[in-house]
Amino acid sequence: MTEILTYNDLICAAELLKRGEVVAFPTETVYGLGASIFQPQAISKIFEVKRRPSDNPLIAHVSNFQQIAQIARDIPQVFYALAEAFFPGPLTVVLRKKSCVPHCVSAGLDSIALRMPRHPIALGLIEALGEPVVAPSANLSGRPSSTQCHHVLDDFSGKIAAVIDGGKTEYGIESTVISLLDGVPTLLRPGAISVATIEEVTHVCTRQAKEGTPISPGMKYRHYAPKAPIALFRHEQECFAALKAVEAHFVLSREPLQLPDTCQWFHLNTADFYGVLRQADAANCQGISIICDEQTLQNHALMNRILKASGNME
Ligand code: TXA
Ligand code: MG
Repeated sequence: MTEILTYNDLICAAELLKRGEVVAFPTETVYGLGASIFQPQAISKIFEVKRRPSDNPLIAHVSNFQQIAQIARDIPQVFYALAEAFFPGPLTVVLRKKSCVPHCVSAGLDSIALRMPRHPIALGLIEALGEPVVAPSANLSGRPSSTQCHHVLDDFSGKIAAVIDGGKTEYGIESTVISLLDGVPTLLRPGAISVATIEEVTHVCTRQAKEGTPISPGMKYRHYAPKAPIALFRHEQECFAALKAVEAHFVLSREPLQLPDTCQWFHLNTADFYGVLRQADAANCQGISIICDEQTLQNHALMNRILKASGNME
């Protein structure tokens, strides 16, 4: 049985983590599947239930700066500028790790990804435990991340001790991941905070990590894939032409559309994107069409997830 907890049960949730259990919790980006950083057997449970490859490291979630000093070393000055601007918030930074961090967290790398979430449940849980909480996104590998409690239960009911229900997450997309391992901020994953916003703080251009040469193990895995094939269109007319004679089809666009009865329209936006992909799976949808207008094309993080979901970017 997976218990459904609320904000009032944070002490109980922290007790479960202390006992080596896995507890899912909301953050401002997506739900995470959490374990205490100092409980390797709970961490292996995360890899097992999520069916995550063991060479893909986890993010350590912290609630204060002492916890950062506890697990990271050789911290460059630019980190403090980023932390001052974006902690707590949806930014993850990769630093050199200290030896107290278990091998399984960092998947054998000499680095640790860390972030201070802003969600009161996430912060309260880490605070109640008193040590960093490692957590990947709370979805089975290859499925869209969870943005609501029931998504977590769809993937892990009966397999984890508890989930804390915090309703729908604010951003609906994962944190931005920046590596500071060689001094130059390098973007490993576009996300909730735009690169332009980060550059306003660092005053240097963020280097783009090249796809194909993964310096972030997560870059080499296919993500966010719904069962139905996804077709991308620039304009609604092209989409209408392709929709003839299709059944059980989902269409996503920013502006509402008049569609045949066999199709269902959904508003295309970052916060709801993963939820719609999950709904498509649940409805046994046969195809998904997404109309990417100019404004959508400008949204780097959302386009990254659309391209990955449609298999156009491995
Ligand atoms: O918003 C988020 O970041 C959510 C919430 C739960 O915090 N978490 C999340 O975790 O998206 P996950 O495991 O799904 O994605 C973490 C990404 C992966 O692509 C992983 O490869 C990368 O961060 N990563 C983790 N540790 C790393 C490290 N030491 N060096 C490079 N990349 C790392
Ligand atoms: Mg993930």
